Amino acid sequence: GDFEHTIPFRSRDELGQLAESFNKMTQRLKRAQYQLLQSEKLASIGKLAATIAHEINNPLNGILTYTKLIERKLAQDSVKREELERFRSYLSIMERETERCSNIVRNLLDFARQREPSLKSDVDVNGVLEEALSLVANQIALQEIQLEKSFGKLPPIMADPMQLRQAFLNILINSCEAIQDGGRIRIVTEYLEGEGMVRVEFSDNGVGIEEEDLHKIFDPFFTTKEKGTGLGLSVVYGIINSHQGNIEVKSKPKEGTTVVIKLPLRTKNQTSAQEGR
Ligand SMILES: Nc1ncnc2c1ncn2[C@@H]1O[C@H](COP(=O)(O)OP(=O)(O)OP(=O)(O)O)[C@@H](O)[C@H]1O
Ligand SMILES: [Mg+2]
Repeated sequence: GDFEHTIPFRSRDELGQLAESFNKMTQRLKRAQYQLLQSEKLASIGKLAATIAHEINNPLNGILTYTKLIERKLAQDSVKREELERFRSYLSIMERETERCSNIVRNLLDFARQREPSLKSDVDVNGVLEEALSLVANQIALQEIQLEKSFGKLPPIMADPMQLRQAFLNILINSCEAIQDGGRIRIVTEYLEGEGMVRVEFSDNGVGIEEEDLHKIFDPFFTTKEKGTGLGLSVVYGIINSHQGNIEVKSKPKEGTTVVIKLPLRTKNQTSAQEGR
């Protein structure tokens, strides 16, 4: 609702009183609405905190259990040879779980660091894509993935190039992770003149996404991977959203996945735009 309206009142008569009580009422509604917004925000922060706590608590519990086991064994003075072997396997589990925690924390920091984009006025999306590609070049070569690029001529757009690169990178990494043998990644860019938008399409012929999972892939911590944190696409979503663009994902299990991003040439609300930085 729009609670910005107040009725100007000067007279001391009945109408004036009515206006005054109307104004008091809108004030109260405004306060209530604000409080509601704050509590919604708090509720979703609370939900997020609970999920994070859970995600980090599991590996930490594992590490603690194995630490205690080793500790107890070491307290017995003599350690048998075969026990040393077991210690080694405990240590490798502890290492894996610690890595998992630190991955979660690192991705969480990326996730939290999403602020207002620091906008530049003349970003070349094809160039940003090339940068993102150079960061996964090793992986692409290693997996012998066939890369097809079809870059159209694009006008410069207003964007935060670092954030865009991060978004493109997260999408490319997902494709690499989805691809098995004989994989291919295709990237198509084009300028949609009528819409005043730049369109970027990523497609892969990887494992695809089950239909029942499709609506969850942007949720923080949704992952189907053993080592995933499920934050990659949440970050992508945040970045595209703050650029006032949109993102769509289509996928078929065993066939592949297509991600389409559309970015406007200019973002509205120029108050946060720091052009030419
Ligand atoms: N190109 C893709 N092909 C198949 N599945 C995908 C693809 N992209 C995303 N997904 C699915 O969406 C899920 C969420 O992706 P997201 O990038 O957010 O997290 P993640 O890759 O699992 O972990 P992280 O990116 O944090 O390492 C993935 O676990 C996977 O199930
Ligand atoms: Mg990912």
